[in-house]
Amino acid sequence: MDYIKKLSRFIIPYKRYAILNIICNVFYALFSTLAMVSLMPMINVLFGESKKIYIKPVYSGLKEIKDYAENYLNYIVTTTTESDGPQRALLYMIILIIGLFLLKNLFNYLALFFITFLRNGVLRDLRDNIYNKVITLPISYYSEKKKGDIIARISSDVNEVKNSMLSVLELIVKEPLTIAFAIIAMFMISVKLTIFVFIFIPISGFIISRIGKSLKRKSERVQKEQGLFLSTLEETLGGLKVIKGFNAEKRFNTKFQDSTNRFYDFSNILMNRQNLASPTSEFLGIATIAALLWYGGNMVMVEKTLSGGAFIGYMALAYQILTPAKAISKASYKVKAGNAAAERVLEILETTSSLEDLPNAINKKEFNSEISVNNISFKYEDNLVLKNFSLHVPKGKTVALVGQSGSGKSTIANLVTRFYDVNEGVIEIDGKNIKDLTKHSLRNLMGLVTQDSILFNDSIKNNILLGKEEANDTDIIEALKIANAWEFVKDLPNGIETNIGDSGNKLSGGQKQRLSIARAVLKNPPIMILDEATSALDTESERLVQDALEKMMKNRTSIVIAHRLSTIQNADLIVVMQKGEIAEQGTHAELINKNGVYKKLVEMQSFE
Ligand SMILES: Nc1ncnc2c1ncn2[C@@H]1O[C@H](COP(=O)(O)OP(=O)(O)OP(=O)(O)O)[C@@H](O)[C@H]1O
Ligand SMILES: [Mg+2]
Repeated sequence: MDYIKKLSRFIIPYKRYAILNIICNVFYALFSTLAMVSLMPMINVLFGESKKIYIKPVYSGLKEIKDYAENYLNYIVTTTTESDGPQRALLYMIILIIGLFLLKNLFNYLALFFITFLRNGVLRDLRDNIYNKVITLPISYYSEKKKGDIIARISSDVNEVKNSMLSVLELIVKEPLTIAFAIIAMFMISVKLTIFVFIFIPISGFIISRIGKSLKRKSERVQKEQGLFLSTLEETLGGLKVIKGFNAEKRFNTKFQDSTNRFYDFSNILMNRQNLASPTSEFLGIATIAALLWYGGNMVMVEKTLSGGAFIGYMALAYQILTPAKAISKASYKVKAGNAAAERVLEILETTSSLEDLPNAINKKEFNSEISVNNISFKYEDNLVLKNFSLHVPKGKTVALVGQSGSGKSTIANLVTRFYDVNEGVIEIDGKNIKDLTKHSLRNLMGLVTQDSILFNDSIKNNILLGKEEANDTDIIEALKIANAWEFVKDLPNGIETNIGDSGNKLSGGQKQRLSIARAVLKNPPIMILDEATSALDTESERLVQDALEKMMKNRTSIVIAHRLSTIQNADLIVVMQKGEIAEQGTHAELINKNGVYKKLVEMQSFE
């Protein structure tokens, strides 16, 4: 039950539902016991065994309530039988039984009614919190994680927690109360018989708890496997073209089936363990009742210390204990499964972001003088990707980063936007360490066009609106024109309302790239970071986009990453990178004169 404590902040907002549930369950337990007890006078009436009472009993306090109730009932039975015959008395008893059962079930429903809000509320809040966490956690968190596993946690694990939530309450309130009330009533009927029953309870308890052992670990394995095959599915959907193109269907099928086979094995073990709960406890219960029949039957037939009606009522109560005992063992297994799921959910929720804003982080509104990168070193894992790297980008200038693949260009974009934190050195904007700024304000100053165009399954309009929520259609069309995207958007049947499919796959690579440029254009930030923004364009559109970018970059500060050197010739500074270090830097003319790496690169490209 440890996790209930950890989940308490999700439960507390709904505690009034828990309280209402508990209250209703108290009544449920009370009426279900009374319903069974009421069988007794009915049977007595049926067989004419009721005690004859002609004087109306008087109420004399809570202590004598049992005698009072019994006498009063007998009084009614006696007088009714005398005046209207035994059928009428039987009818009264039946009405009493029906009424009690009705109340029992009414409160049962009400208890479930109230707890539903708690369960679904906790479910909703857990999902919202995980999602929020997923959005907040730094990108580095996901390098190791499987996406499908996170999907499994937010869907099935959370659901498992919801289910176990009901079981917990059943476990600690409803069923124990039902049992307690039944036992009290049993004691009232016959102390001797009840003590006899008590010998059997610990034995049953022991056997049932043996079954529950290791259930949590088994359940954990099932959940984990679920995450695994969801990951495979997720990757498959993302990579269908490659899978088909390389005829890798079989391989992926095998991978998926391996996982579902393990899932099959684990769930078989788990479910069969769980399935054992109910029959075992029912059988143990009926064994107890059999012993009771023997022992109690003796009391009725031989010792004559118990009336027939009382004995049948007693048996009903003993059976009444069976159902909750069964429910308890079942619920305790469910709680164990819920516990395993909750741990997986909490694992995400309790992850602290390594890129949390400082408590007194500055909310920087504008960009005034320069971006400076001072002696930074950075590694994703073990190897330094950037070594002692420095770069100064004065306001209004364009700095281009070129260099071979893997030299660390995109990494610089990742660091300036603070998707990752540097290991050594500092990155400053207007002399302020970016770690001292709120991430929100930092990213507000920047427009980002990533190397792989990232678009969402939505309309063109909504994709572009990410740049600036309050923009109107005219602004959007303007941005599309600047990015040279309007020419294809205007020919689409639904214009800017056209849906572009999953990650934009209804568009060509170049079209996607132009849309992500338009998105940055609409945002209109003081600093632009363009990672290979024109790589997927043909020469003609590249020239047009280049033109647009240059227009946009005027009066703007830009860091441009490019493979095609033709696109950055006009940059104020070109930095040539090699294995995370600066090989040379200068303007296009300076670098050509230098006759070094850059010149060689230019020559190779013009040769193409
Ligand atoms: N998320 C990551 N985890 C671990 N290593 C990474 C990660 N991203 C990049 N790297 C490594 O960092 C190095 C620099 O990568 P980066 O993406 O900055 O190169 P790049 O200069 O942009 O190359 P390209 O021109 O091909 O885009 C590479 O060696 C790469 O293997
Ligand atoms: Mg790159």
